[in-house]
Amino acid sequence: MSAAASTRRLRLGVVGLGRLGKRHAENLAYRVPGAELVAACSPLEEERRWARDALPSPRLYDEYARLLDDKDVDAVWLVTPSSLHAQQIVDALRAGKHVFCEKPLSLDLAECERVLHEAAQYPHLQATIGFMRRFDPSYKDAFDKIEAGAIGRPFLVRSQTTDKNDTDGFFVRFAATSGGIFLDCTVHDIDVARWLLGKPRAKRVFAAGAVALHEGLREFGDVDNGVAICEFEDGKLAMFYASRTQAHGNDTHSEVIGTVGGLTIGHNPRANRVEIYDATGIRNECTPTFFDRFEEAFLHEARAFVASVQGGAGSTSQAGATLADALEATRIGNALRQSLQSGQAVTL
Ligand SMILES: NC(=O)c1ccc[n+]([C@@H]2O[C@H](COP(=O)([O-])OP(=O)(O)OC[C@H]3O[C@@H](n4cnc5c(N)ncnc54)[C@H](O)[C@@H]3O)[C@@H](O)[C@H]2O)c1
Repeated sequence: MSAAASTRRLRLGVVGLGRLGKRHAENLAYRVPGAELVAACSPLEEERRWARDALPSPRLYDEYARLLDDKDVDAVWLVTPSSLHAQQIVDALRAGKHVFCEKPLSLDLAECERVLHEAAQYPHLQATIGFMRRFDPSYKDAFDKIEAGAIGRPFLVRSQTTDKNDTDGFFVRFAATSGGIFLDCTVHDIDVARWLLGKPRAKRVFAAGAVALHEGLREFGDVDNGVAICEFEDGKLAMFYASRTQAHGNDTHSEVIGTVGGLTIGHNPRANRVEIYDATGIRNECTPTFFDRFEEAFLHEARAFVASVQGGAGSTSQAGATLADALEATRIGNALRQSLQSGQAVTL
């Protein structure tokens, strides 16, 4: 990128204005230095109406191909159903746009490989997958401490993603395109484990699950609670838990055990610093949703992407998950799904 281009604001088009897309759009429009949200795309009129009211007059498209034709868009920000990600990333790169795409890269390993192959043809364009936990200040602090040797050699990660029970059943409807609990939720823990353990390669996994409350998931071969073990080639280990049925809120936390110590990240999912003392004991309220827990992470992730594109090849800004990281997460997530369905351990 030339010096002139690097000082210009990065013009972004957000694609998908659903549950999460609206949040990303507001961040990009109002809270990310160096970014200008110039376009938004949704096939739904209701979502485009929201954009008209909530965003600073971006050009609105009902078709992704038309947004890609817009020469004023430098980068696309994909917050679309997971089953569409791979092709939409390829289309963006072919149109000469940098890409940020929500996780997972794809539900299908061959599709992930196709995206990596295609991206290699466009080394001047950035393509990042939104594993935003890497940008959460507590996870980042843990990463830095581990890198500095605070717990010795890390060899075990225990990590969970658990959502408050949603009686509305959003995720049951979402199950058709989510890839199931391991590719939708545990994929974050997989990325966290590999990131904190030095990117080891998985060699064997085992997963099991239960339907505790949401019978509607059975028709998708999915569960509302899942557990898994992952062994890595260098002897490192990870244990995962995912749930859609927690009573208390979104309780996402991780633990890393090393040779001379350990650390935990977010073990008490506190909504704030208030503690209530009464006859039942002492308690704090919990973060209700993933967005409440990771609001800051989503913002830092967006700022880092923009800074990284503007900084060009030599950028020192923190990078998000690469396509190769995301491929590995899908590879492991798929193996977990396969193990859940077969009842057998899966060797990768
Ligand atoms: N990082 C996280 O923690 C996190 C959390 C939630 C969701 N996600 C990811 O974000 C993505 C979207 O999830 P969501 O919960 O917002 O889903 P959603 O169903 O609420 O939103 C999907 C959006 O995509 C739009 N869309 C559908 N088909 C389209 C097409 N062909 N072209 C353009 N837009 C299209 C829909 O209109 C909608 O705006 C998923 O991949 C999901 O895995 C990530």
